[in-house]
Amino acid sequence: MRVEEIKTVGIVGAGLMGHGIAQVFGMKGYRVNLYDNDPGILMDAPEKIRQNLQLFLEVGSIKEADLELCLKNINLCRSMADLCKNRDVVIEAVSEKLGVKQLVFGELEKYTSPLTLLCTNTSGIRIAKIGEGLRNRERVVGTHFWNPPHTVPCVEVIKSESTSDEAFQTAMDLMKKIGKEPVRVLKDIPGFLGNRLQLALFREALFLFQQGIASPEDIDRVVKYSFGSRFPFIGAFETMDLAGHDLGHEVQNYLFPELCSDLKPLNVLKKMVEDGLLGVKTGKGFYEWTDEKIKETIHRRDFGLLKLAKIRDGE
Ligand code: NAI
Repeated sequence: MRVEEIKTVGIVGAGLMGHGIAQVFGMKGYRVNLYDNDPGILMDAPEKIRQNLQLFLEVGSIKEADLELCLKNINLCRSMADLCKNRDVVIEAVSEKLGVKQLVFGELEKYTSPLTLLCTNTSGIRIAKIGEGLRNRERVVGTHFWNPPHTVPCVEVIKSESTSDEAFQTAMDLMKKIGKEPVRVLKDIPGFLGNRLQLALFREALFLFQQGIASPEDIDRVVKYSFGSRFPFIGAFETMDLAGHDLGHEVQNYLFPELCSDLKPLNVLKKMVEDGLLGVKTGKGFYEWTDEKIKETIHRRDFGLLKLAKIRDGE
């Protein structure tokens, strides 16, 4: 299937990721079927999407009519059979459990045409493992949206050893067409690209805190206001080229032995889990979290991301 032929989309799972992915397609005029086996979560999805769209209105990225049109494009389904009806592509965004995903893909094979492109939003499970029981596993591709999918531009598109070149290219083209920034991941490795890079940073941040070198607040300020302030505009390799590799080589020579290379989660994090300091889930982590502060932080993140998108678009 080529991207021009794709008109209809199905999303399985209407949780944190699924409802946002449905919104992205709805905003681009695709007819979207959405299904979740928890009817409460499914029924709440349109209201969550409406609230997300209010932010797009606030920033001036859409008009009132676009909001209604997007919601109109999203149809709630009562079963997998319903969801799959006449779908050109289906994206799975159910819980991160291999068994659950394999069951869902079994049903997708049963109810879709063999030409339907099948995508999984898994963050860590091997794509080949998810599709291993299928007859037409060459049409299974990883499309890893980032949270929140309606405001973060990148989608990692993952090719497993069973994915066909055609399916992979169609998934890349589709992500581009819905306004995303797709990235090719040519091997089905744990963490893909983004989470490996992010986790390398988290490990070092925790290590610095554990050693008493700086507070979480100050480490976060360095992330946001030093190298992080450049990252929306230039990447790691561009930064290295600008700095010069003779210098980079010298710095790596003396600094790498100093960096954390622990192969297990850091003790400071283990202790927090034991003490029930889970972050927003329990109201306390590295920071104290009130309902008001959670709302303000998420709004600041999403408002900033939408403003940044406008800068990127030259508005
Ligand atoms: P979630 O728990 O918010 O949503 C999952 C939904 O799947 C739930 O609403 C659940 O009722 C539904 N579900 C479970 N089994 C089902 C079935 N058999 N049929 C239909 N619906 C079913 O989880 P979330 O965060 O949306 O994650 C979904 C996927 O996206 C996971 O694979 C996750 O690893 C991945 N992901 C999550 C990110 C995040 O930051 N939360 C970021 C990127 C990917």
